[in-house]
Amino acid sequence: MVDTSFTHIAHSTQTIQQRYLHVITWGCQMNVYDSNRMVDLLRPLGYKVTDEAEKADVLILNTCHIRDKATEKVFSELGRLRQIKEYREDQGNPTLIAVAGCVAQAEGEIILKRAPYVDIVFGPQTYHRLPKMILDVARKSGNVIETDFPTESKFDFLPAPDESQGYTAFLTIQEGCDKFCSFCVVPYTRGAEESRPVQAIIDEATHLCSLGVKEISLLGQNVNAYHGQGPDGNIWDLVKLAEKLSTIPGLLRIRYTTSHPNDMSDSLIAAHRDLPTLMPFLHLPVQSGSDRILKSMNRGHTVSEYYVIIEKLKKAKPDIALSSDFIIGHPGETNEDFKATMKLVQDITFAQAFSFKYSPRPGTSAAVSMNQIAEPEKDARLQELQAVLKDQQTQFNKDTVGRKIPILFTHKGRKEGQIAGKSPYLQAVHAQGNDSLIGQECVVEIDECLTFSLSGSLVKESTSH
Ligand code: 5AD
Ligand code: SF4
Repeated sequence: MVDTSFTHIAHSTQTIQQRYLHVITWGCQMNVYDSNRMVDLLRPLGYKVTDEAEKADVLILNTCHIRDKATEKVFSELGRLRQIKEYREDQGNPTLIAVAGCVAQAEGEIILKRAPYVDIVFGPQTYHRLPKMILDVARKSGNVIETDFPTESKFDFLPAPDESQGYTAFLTIQEGCDKFCSFCVVPYTRGAEESRPVQAIIDEATHLCSLGVKEISLLGQNVNAYHGQGPDGNIWDLVKLAEKLSTIPGLLRIRYTTSHPNDMSDSLIAAHRDLPTLMPFLHLPVQSGSDRILKSMNRGHTVSEYYVIIEKLKKAKPDIALSSDFIIGHPGETNEDFKATMKLVQDITFAQAFSFKYSPRPGTSAAVSMNQIAEPEKDARLQELQAVLKDQQTQFNKDTVGRKIPILFTHKGRKEGQIAGKSPYLQAVHAQGNDSLIGQECVVEIDECLTFSLSGSLVKESTSH
């Protein structure tokens, strides 16, 4: 889960059809993937995506429960959607509101009680049943709630992604978590850890590449713990899977997120050296630099074990860009513990990182701790940490100025004649170039480090065909 801010994804296409679908996506990349698959599921029923909520026959709110006042945010957004529904229904246009995702999973009954105008509530593991749920509501059989963990896998029921993919795509390969970190709601909302079979992933990736995708981000809550059934009857790990995916024609880049330090095997570290498609970027959340806090977080590793992994990674791939997540103000965190986190950050240096104030999640062990940290303390610590992380990110970006780097161009830039894309280190880069280069990887010499991106000049028109 990399995304820190809530994402508002509005899928938009031109349409000549009658029924419209509007999807609002909050939270992590797995939610973005799930929302895209919901769109794929409803397309055969005649639903086209619109970015105008007022035009939609079906409104889906795909929610996130990981931090903050998740439930209250959902009710506030539902208030807005309710007004749209009432206005449309006054005009004689039946409108259906569905709440999906992790808040739906955790608070399904409460949502239906407090917002009875919601028609459907479903969790992350049941959205393959969405077409049936919509039909059930249309038949006026009342509200529908689907928040069980079904025995069937939703992945067996999802249609192939459509043609509107860009040049980069997400692909969920693993879901759920058995690690039960003290602060985290994921094991309760996404369920037990499960890996998709290798062949299903290869098929989906091959299909994506046939649509023009050049970069795939493999997603999972514990993606580096992947252990899926292989076509040879053996269990495959992430390395074997990535090696196989690398043979798909057209696929230039593979990323994976989010990883846990305890599953960072030596073979995965070696793959960063040996597998050219594997991008030199790793998001490896450490959460805290204090052994005492790591223990109370139930993370299962020490600070020095994290250092050893980073050392091995830097040895295998000296230019690897590191990213992490930090939680500030976990129950029991003293000033000493916080200083230890600051030391870890200074020692390792991150290309980017996400840091959050601890927020209690219902049902998790840390939420009932008596040692909660006062908000002003958390605020002060977070500010101090974020200032250092920001400087490190700026320095990392500045260090790329003057280098020649392959950039995968994915879209037009904001200014006339510009094209934009990402570096292997996940930096946003733009350059003057012909639109025909969009979808290709070209070598760019980085000229300047701006606030949110890098600008450069094309050196070589294409490294890829
Ligand atoms: N409070 C604050 N941050 C949290 N995260 C997960 N749960 C919480 C919580 N209760 C952060 C962790 C995780 C990231 C996705 O969100 O840092 O790695
Ligand atoms: Fe949450 Fe910990 Fe599992 Fe990550 S490893 S999803 S932080 S419980």
